[in-house]
Amino acid sequence: MVELSINEEEQLSVQEIERLQREVKRLAEEKNAVILAHYYQRPEVQDIADFVGDSLELSRKAASTDADIIVFCGVRFMCETAKILSPHKKVLHPNPESGCPMADMINASQVRKLREEHPDAELVAYINTTAEVKAEIDLCVTSANAPKVIKKLKAKKIVFMPDQALGQWVARQVPEKEFVLWKGFCPPHFEFTAREVEKLKERYPEAKVAVHPECHPKVIDIADFVGSTSQIIRYATSVEADKVIVITEVGLKHTLMKKNPNKEYIFPESMNYCGTVYCCTMKGITLPKLYKTIKEEINEVELPSDIIERARRPIERMLELS
Ligand code: 13P
Ligand code: SF4
Repeated sequence: MVELSINEEEQLSVQEIERLQREVKRLAEEKNAVILAHYYQRPEVQDIADFVGDSLELSRKAASTDADIIVFCGVRFMCETAKILSPHKKVLHPNPESGCPMADMINASQVRKLREEHPDAELVAYINTTAEVKAEIDLCVTSANAPKVIKKLKAKKIVFMPDQALGQWVARQVPEKEFVLWKGFCPPHFEFTAREVEKLKERYPEAKVAVHPECHPKVIDIADFVGSTSQIIRYATSVEADKVIVITEVGLKHTLMKKNPNKEYIFPESMNYCGTVYCCTMKGITLPKLYKTIKEEINEVELPSDIIERARRPIERMLELS
């Protein structure tokens, strides 16, 4: 067996990347592990995943896999969701520091307070929330199913958390209900400005514009299409336009190019709060970290059993309703 010693701060050569990828695949097979990755992951990580998807698809995979180990290349709430849906499996997170800043914008006691303040409402949370928050809510949604699922609820009043942008976008499509929105936001998406998108449109007047619903409502207003990462992929690769302006995290470009390299995909280039064009916590998963995690079976995601039990209900309800 090859022993690898890697300083992950160094730029890896193509040969090193390939060698690590082979090792990760070999270890995954040997240990009956499945590697799940979100579309915002680094290309070299996406390329060796058994499945790459949006939050809804990844939850479905996590619930249905027969692997013994799930190695989740994404942010912490995604790993927690996998553990909640497959509590008897070992779930490994290659970088336990990689959380989602938006998920951390609301906690369980704040949700309990919302319940007291709005006893007549259903409490609905975006999947980008901690397990403790999910344990307090009535229903979980993702960007791929939120309007469809919320429309099916009986309650007239919805308390939606934590993403105000997604909440406003849903509220517009479900006008028959009253929405109370928590003021959380996704820093990388919320920082894209309408001015920046307008400038891209001036430069590429023939391009279509696809936007993620975590973006500011003023950016959403400019869009030809709004949807989750998977929905954007389907739209951008098949729409009748040679150029598509894509307003989401730039990791999506990798899949877009693989699925349809004949189009040009234009992403915003402005720096965000972490001084990059990326979601820096998503990019906290590196190939050396993935290798070390699967090799040593470290960074196991653990949750109290009562949280698992209570948090599973709103996720399963979502999977049933969508
Ligand atoms: P989706 O892939 O479900 O659209 O989610 C985007 C996102 O920001 C995940 O953190
Ligand atoms: Fe969280 Fe936004 Fe990063 Fe997704 S892109 S993990 S919502 S900060």
